[in-house]
Amino acid sequence: MTESKPTKRLYIETAGCQMNILDSEMVVASLRRQGYELTNSAESADTILFNTCSVREHTEEKTYNHIALLRDLKRSHPEKIVGVMGCMAQKDQQLVFERAPFVDLVVGPGQLHSISGLLEKINAGAGRQMAVSLGRRDGNQDDIRRSHESFDPLRDPTMRPTPYQAYLRIQYGCDKFCTYCVVPMTRGPEQGRSPEQIYAEARQLADQGCKEIVLLGQTVNSYKYVEGSCVTRLADLLETIHEIDGICRIKFVTNYPKDMSIELLQTVRDLPKCSPYFHVPAQSGSDAVLARMKRGYTVSDYMAMMERIESTIPQAAVASDFIVGFCGETDEDFQQTLDLAERCRFKNSFIFKYSVRSGTKAAQLFPDDVPEHVKQHRNIELLELTNRIAEQENSRFIGNKVEVLVEGPSKLSLRRDDIGPMRQMTGRSRCDRIVVWEGNERQAGQLMPISIHDSNVHTLFGSVPTQQFSRDVYAMPLVANRRVDA
Ligand code: 5AD
Ligand code: SF4
Repeated sequence: MTESKPTKRLYIETAGCQMNILDSEMVVASLRRQGYELTNSAESADTILFNTCSVREHTEEKTYNHIALLRDLKRSHPEKIVGVMGCMAQKDQQLVFERAPFVDLVVGPGQLHSISGLLEKINAGAGRQMAVSLGRRDGNQDDIRRSHESFDPLRDPTMRPTPYQAYLRIQYGCDKFCTYCVVPMTRGPEQGRSPEQIYAEARQLADQGCKEIVLLGQTVNSYKYVEGSCVTRLADLLETIHEIDGICRIKFVTNYPKDMSIELLQTVRDLPKCSPYFHVPAQSGSDAVLARMKRGYTVSDYMAMMERIESTIPQAAVASDFIVGFCGETDEDFQQTLDLAERCRFKNSFIFKYSVRSGTKAAQLFPDDVPEHVKQHRNIELLELTNRIAEQENSRFIGNKVEVLVEGPSKLSLRRDDIGPMRQMTGRSRCDRIVVWEGNERQAGQLMPISIHDSNVHTLFGSVPTQQFSRDVYAMPLVANRRVDA
C-alpha cells in the first residue's frame, strides 16, 4: 500500500486591486499543484498568507492589525506558517518582521514564483525567508526588470470566483511615477508581456470555458511590446484575442488618460466582443493639482479624451478614480473637481483621501497640508455628487434590455440560502453594470438579455424578458446626450 502525502491547508486573504486578486489566484493555483488545499479560516490552515496593498496607509494599517490577530494562534501552533506577500511586503521588507515578529515569510509581488520553494525551506526548518525585488535605484535597468518577474503560471479555473471570467495580465509595473503613488516602487518598471504568451493564455482560458477576459495592466492602454521592428499595442492584442472562439467579451483596465488613442477607441468600436467600458482615472479636476501629481495631462486634455470616447463610441460607460485632499488642494481646486465630475457623468467613481506614501515624490516635495476633516468632507461631497450622477445614468436603462454575462447566484441569494430552483442571479452588462434578477443557477455562464425595470446607484434590477416586453436596445434612440448601452 502506498501512503498518500498529507494535504496541507492554505488560507489566503487578499487586499487591493485586480492585480492582487490575480496574483492570489496564481499563488493558490501553483500551491494546489504542490498538494495544498484551500480552507476558509486561519485556524484550520497550516499556511496563512496575506496578499497586501500599499496604495494607502489605512489599508496597510488594517492589514497589520489583521496579522496581529494571529499572534496567539501562532504562539499555540508555532508550526503554522504566516506569510506576507504583495506590495506591502515589497515596500516594508524587513519592517514586516519587526512589526509582526511571528511572520515567517515576506515575498514581494515580483517574486511570487519563489513562494512554494520558500515554504518548503521553512517547513524544513530553515527559519524565516524573504524574497523581494530590487528597488528602482538598486542596480542596472535589466537587473531591476528581471527582479520583477511576472508570475503567470498555468491557469486553474477552480481558483476563480466564476470560471466564465478571468483576468489576464498583459503588463507588469508602471513607469508613470505619479507623485503620490507607490506602485512604480512596489511593482517595478513597466514591462509588457509578449503577445505570444498573452494569446496562448487567452486560448487556454477559452478552452477552460472562460467567456470574458479582462486584460490587466497598471496603465493597460500604454501596453507596448517591441520585438525587432515589430511593435505590438493594446489594439493589436484586442484584434487577436477577438478571433478566439468561445471568448465573448473583452475588457481592459486600468487606463491612462493620455494614452487613450483614437486608434484604440476605433478598435473597440469595430470589434463587437470589446466592451464599451473604460476605467480612466481623472484623479483631479484642477490643472494645478494635476501638475503637482505629475499626471501628464490637463483638464482640457482629459475633456478632449472624453470627447474622443463619446464621438467614437456614444454608448460608452466611463469610470474614474479621484484623490481628494492632495497636497495644496484649495477649495477652488476641489470645486473644479466637482465641475469635472458633473461634466463627465461617470458610470461610477472611486474616491480616496490622499495618503502620504514614503518613497514617493509627493512625500519628499509637498507638505500633506489639507486637514483630515477637510479631506473627509470633500470625500463625502464628491461621493454624493458622483453617486447622484451614477443613479441618474442607471435609471436610463429602465424599460430597456441589456445583454448580461451571468456570473451566478447573487451574494443576497447565497446569504438567504434560497431553496427551490429560483435564485437571485447576478451578472454584468457589456458596459460593466451590475444586474440582478430572479433566475436559476443553470443560467450561470450564459449571455442573455435581461429586461430592466428598476435601478439604484450600483445596480440594475430586471427579469428574463417575455417576448412582447420592452424595446430592443440596439434600436434605441439617443437619450440625453448619450445612448444607453446594451
Ligand atoms: N493616496 C490616496 N489615493 C491613492 N491612490 C493611489 N495612490 C494614492 C495615495 N497615495 C488612488 C488613485 C489610484 C487608485 C488605485 O488609488 O486614485 O487610481
Ligand atoms: Fe500609480 Fe500613476 Fe502608475 Fe497609476 S499611472 S499605478 S497612479 S504611478
